[in-house]
Amino acid sequence: MKRKLVVGNWKMNGDRARNSALLDQFLGAMPAGVDVAVCPPFAYLSQVGEILSGSAVVLGAQDVSEFHDGAYTGDVSVTMLADWGVRLVIVGHSERRALHGESDTVVARKAAAALDGGIVPIVCIGETLAERESGVTEQVLLRQLDALAANLSPELLQRIVLAYEPVWAIGTGRAATVEQVQAVLGFVRRWLARHLSAPERIRILYGGSVKPETANGLFGLPDADGGLIGGASLDAQSFLEICRAAT
Ligand code: G3P
Repeated sequence: MKRKLVVGNWKMNGDRARNSALLDQFLGAMPAGVDVAVCPPFAYLSQVGEILSGSAVVLGAQDVSEFHDGAYTGDVSVTMLADWGVRLVIVGHSERRALHGESDTVVARKAAAALDGGIVPIVCIGETLAERESGVTEQVLLRQLDALAANLSPELLQRIVLAYEPVWAIGTGRAATVEQVQAVLGFVRRWLARHLSAPERIRILYGGSVKPETANGLFGLPDADGGLIGGASLDAQSFLEICRAAT
């Protein structure tokens, strides 16, 4: 039985005092039976990693360079992330695709770099509101997924985590409906089945305004393996309730 995965994406939030207070509020109450990770900004990997050490919560990061060490100003390599004990890394978040011009190919190369360094990439895919309203959601997802198949061997592809994050649901308080989510997750699962021998082994998360009141419905879907949580991961009680919904 695949355990669900709940990942807190802190985005560019926090400071040392708030990070410590947030973790103190939920680490001791974390439920069993669900895999949990938190992804702080790079600046706090050391602090958060130290607080998490000895707990069941895994340290994650929000991005990784497609390159290995060298003249890449501002980048952080997978080797450096692993040095701090990072075990999961978000790649291709829509905010990076939009604000930093990350193409499908760059995202796929980041996923490959992560795997090369022994870190599991959580590859984000999803459509904008304009794309959904114009009926091209599946074409967008297909383009994003095909870039992964073009840059990762089936053996590597088998090791990633996927996160479906409809861009129009991120930070808006308006989560996709369970019908919308299941339709996409089923489409992604069928794509995986065309490329992998064990498509059911890949965990597909949902992200986009997941709240305690919507978590049960989302995590109850046949193809949903957990959540990628933004705003609600910055509130200890909300994050705990979402983690409990995934057990
Ligand atoms: O990566 C997760 C994030 O994009 C979702 O944000 O605030 O809608 O839960 P939020």
